[in-house]
Amino acid sequence: MYRHPRKIAFAARKGGGGKSTSAISFAGEMALLGSRVLIMIFDQQDDLADSYLIDTDYDPENYRSLASVLKGEISVREAIYTTIPYQRKGRAADLKAKFGSTGRDYTIDIMPAGYDIPTVALELSEEENLIARIMKEVENNYDYIIMDLPPSDANESMLALEYANYVIVPAGETASFKSVNMMVNTVNDFTVNGYDLDLLGIIINRYSKNRVVRRENENTFRDVLGSLIFSQTIRDSTDIEKANAYGLPLSAYPKCDVGMDWTRLSREIVKRIDEKEK
Ligand SMILES: Nc1ncnc2c1ncn2[C@@H]1O[C@H](COP(=O)(O)OP(=O)(O)OP(=O)(O)O)[C@@H](O)[C@H]1O
Ligand SMILES: [Mg+2]
Repeated sequence: MYRHPRKIAFAARKGGGGKSTSAISFAGEMALLGSRVLIMIFDQQDDLADSYLIDTDYDPENYRSLASVLKGEISVREAIYTTIPYQRKGRAADLKAKFGSTGRDYTIDIMPAGYDIPTVALELSEEENLIARIMKEVENNYDYIIMDLPPSDANESMLALEYANYVIVPAGETASFKSVNMMVNTVNDFTVNGYDLDLLGIIINRYSKNRVVRRENENTFRDVLGSLIFSQTIRDSTDIEKANAYGLPLSAYPKCDVGMDWTRLSREIVKRIDEKEK
């Protein structure tokens, strides 16, 4: 079944495995290819907004958010900030001058969650299709709606999963098979209950050949979860943190190995979706 927009949640039970990094990296790759992209953050920490909205009127102390929309204080349009990575000033501009412009002037829209999203999500947890209802007004403006979830099965995660069609689970260096499997089971529960939600795949993030522990872990993953694991892994690289410090998605950052990993992985992700929607 063809779906438009494609709604993808990056989710994992364990913290720090790369949900937010994966969400912005995939968003950047899709935007570079010309897709219209919105990142919806469901994590009260709003890391992505703090790092990537530095060229907008986003104020880390006081900002418009999904929580405010859910409380009826502002419209959904008002909660969306638009960033243009290649028009950054300051350090990012220096970087651009050093490496030359690629002329890749694309935008990424981001909707922050708001610090009070857990309270709001708890209060509204009985309502059905909440996110779908508020998104109706804007969702057709996008090809991809990418959701960055908190590391838990909190109410706000459930709101996001109810709205999403696909889940991608990034598994970091410390991800246990158990924590990944818990996320797989959560998605299965949604499917059993009639939701149109598919587990698209599992990303092996921060991959490093030299780590024995990781290798063993990866073998268990591959034995049990098999084809769910994307064949393209994402290497452990300091370029991830550098790009984050500049507020640039890897697709707007000077060419690097981990950027290539993300370009290849994004192609694999899109291919999987295309196959499911045939
Ligand atoms: N491939 C990688 N190589 C190096 N560092 C990475 C890589 N992926 C993520 N990181 C770093 O690991 C940390 C956690 O990543 P990220 O914030 O994406 O995880 P998360 O799952 O969103 O975490 P949380 O559960 O706190 O929301 C960040 O500092 C990020 O820069
Ligand atoms: Mg995160």
